[in-house]
Amino acid sequence: MADESRPEVVGVLGCGLMGSGIAQVCAQAGYRTIVREVDQAAVNAGLTRIERFLANGVTREKLTRAERDATMGRLAGTTSFDALAESDLIIEAIIEQVDAKRAVFAAVEEVVGPDTLFCSNTSSVCITELAASTTRPDKFIGLHFFNPVPIMSLVEVIRGLSTVDTTYQRVLKFAQSLGKQTVTAPDRPGFIVNRLLVPYLLSAVRAVESGCGTLEDVDTAMTLGCGHPMGPFALLDFVGVDTTYYIANIMHEEFRDPAYAPPPLLKRMVLAGRLGRKSGHGFYEY
Ligand code: CAA
Repeated sequence: MADESRPEVVGVLGCGLMGSGIAQVCAQAGYRTIVREVDQAAVNAGLTRIERFLANGVTREKLTRAERDATMGRLAGTTSFDALAESDLIIEAIIEQVDAKRAVFAAVEEVVGPDTLFCSNTSSVCITELAASTTRPDKFIGLHFFNPVPIMSLVEVIRGLSTVDTTYQRVLKFAQSLGKQTVTAPDRPGFIVNRLLVPYLLSAVRAVESGCGTLEDVDTAMTLGCGHPMGPFALLDFVGVDTTYYIANIMHEEFRDPAYAPPPLLKRMVLAGRLGRKSGHGFYEY
């Protein structure tokens, strides 16, 4: 790294909804970005999602064609870990499974240098636990983005118990260089946003279960009455019913607070495959 605080090459693990958004904002901010997926079909799907978002941005006059082309020129997709060897900073955005996350960090450690910083975009896994499974817990930190990544301005920065100050300062600066506003959150399930958002979403389900109103009425009430961009049921479908259920369970397990206990309907929706927009059916049909 020429400038100690600024990475030159960013490696992103995972090119799904979050990974592709993260890779896009890194490339848009001027970083050479390499995004790794498990197979070529997943790489292509992720890069196509980025291309479409940028093309749509050009149509909306949010960026120029030249900026779009320069962004795509800084981006590369790969299925190999070796291609990440030059990365100064890694951002992991794969599935929310501890063992899978540990495995990709172990594979990356085989190829990158000892100074490479490791970040995880996890929304529920303990940062301290993930850090401890690597040989560099001092250079490991949580960097939690929000969906849709290119539009949402916030990034939560989460220090694990072993994260040292230089790692924290460098990653904070990096997140801000992406044009994001940062908040520092504790290494506790839900960090800040989900700690408040998840009980709100769960209480919306309970409210409808107990006859408070229809889905549509609750969504209309919260959008028009409180100025939220989406009502809780539209947001549950947007975030993923399964994702919310998963995070709620982890929070409930840690805090033992009934506010985080997923209501029975949420579990049944997951069992029925009604996961939200991604499955074409959640609280609403798409
Ligand atoms: N390129 C550039 N800008 C774009 C764009 C593109 N391709 N597409 C949209 N935009 C911009 C638009 O121009 C607009 O910006 P301006 O107001 O400055 O013009 C803005 O993005 C919104 O776009 P739209 O008007 O098309 O869309 P919308 O008004 O329907 O908003 C939304 C869509 C941003 C998703 C909004 O509904 C929203 O904010 N919903 C809530 C999302 C949310 O809460 N996300 C967090 C979920 S929690 C999470 O992610 C964490 C977790 O761990 C679960």
